[in-house]
Amino acid sequence: MSLFKWSSANSVYLPELDAEHRAIYQLGDELHKALVAGAKLAQLQPILVNLLETWEQHFRHEERLMRAVHYSAFAWHKRQHDVARKSAKALSKRIEGGDLAAAEELIKFLSVWLRDHMAVADRMMSAFLRNYLRFNTSLAS
Ligand SMILES: [Fe+2]
Ligand SMILES: [Fe+2]
Repeated sequence: MSLFKWSSANSVYLPELDAEHRAIYQLGDELHKALVAGAKLAQLQPILVNLLETWEQHFRHEERLMRAVHYSAFAWHKRQHDVARKSAKALSKRIEGGDLAAAEELIKFLSVWLRDHMAVADRMMSAFLRNYLRFNTSLAS
């Protein structure tokens, strides 16, 4: 069973953010499939690096958007990102040290964290952003 099966239930109703979430899902799925197929650390590493970079770029994008519109729950939202950053960093350190069980932990953490974060925090943020767009022509991203 895929831990990263995208469905419309995951949508936050902003196409550019949905596309970024989907890209993270795809890389998570790629990492998961490689791990299940018995890939070695050297094969996992480029996928891991790509996943972490894509994830970080996405966080930064959301944080830029929230700052641009003076989003009232910015600090709360960023704290959630920071907690995920910290966990992902600790797990990726272990993976780079050869602990492949940490790769499994990272995949599970990512799939649960992202699903929950998109369902509440990202949806709240995107509702605010969409409302902002009703009165302004563009988002400063
Ligand atoms: Fe977020
Ligand atoms: Fe997000």
